[in-house]
Amino acid sequence: MAFPIKTVALSVAGTFLVLAGGAAAYIELGVMNVSALNQDNAIMAAILHETSERSVAARISENPVPDGLLDKPELIKAGAQLYARNCAFCHSAPGREPGPQGKGENPRPPQGFFRAGRHVNTQEVFWYIKNGVKMTGMPSFVPTMDEQKMWSISAFLTKAPGMTPSDYAALSAATP
Ligand code: HEC
Repeated sequence: MAFPIKTVALSVAGTFLVLAGGAAAYIELGVMNVSALNQDNAIMAAILHETSERSVAARISENPVPDGLLDKPELIKAGAQLYARNCAFCHSAPGREPGPQGKGENPRPPQGFFRAGRHVNTQEVFWYIKNGVKMTGMPSFVPTMDEQKMWSISAFLTKAPGMTPSDYAALSAATP
């Protein structure tokens, strides 16, 4: 049975109007709870996580790792100092509690960078530092650091798994 084109067009337009009205009501009536205490439901959290992981995986090869990056102790020490000042209050560090951002942000900043046996992808760490992640607390450091500094933090975090509080304290202490 054939529908007259006018009926089809009116039905499509009507459906759009109802959907647009619903979306406007959802916004205007304050249905969404933006409290950071309100966790996403499991399905939404899984969708957001997968979207973010795929997006980053498709882009991490944009920045090739500089030659010999992981063989320069002074660079790794500089990275530890930069990490202590710019990252530890969100991501914590051995023997250090995270600050309010590390405890109360939603999504919560990952806390496992120093876990023994963890595999680290240096290029991926660099991508996160350079780009940040939209709609989370993870900032892009482009406005505040050059790429040399970003690579030194990436090198430090590559060496981070299994680091003890005393190793971290020695490495992140300012050079006298
Ligand atoms: C204000 C808090 C905050 C600061 C400061 C911050 N981050 Fe993050 N970071 C986050 C959050 C939140 C996420 C999770 C983003 C997400 O859910 O996709 C994140 C994600 C990451 C990731 C991805 C980890 C993973 O397992 O997916 C890396 C790597 C990272 N940050 C490194 C750093 C480094 C290095 C610094 C300092 C130069 C830093 N961050 C500073 C909040 C922060």
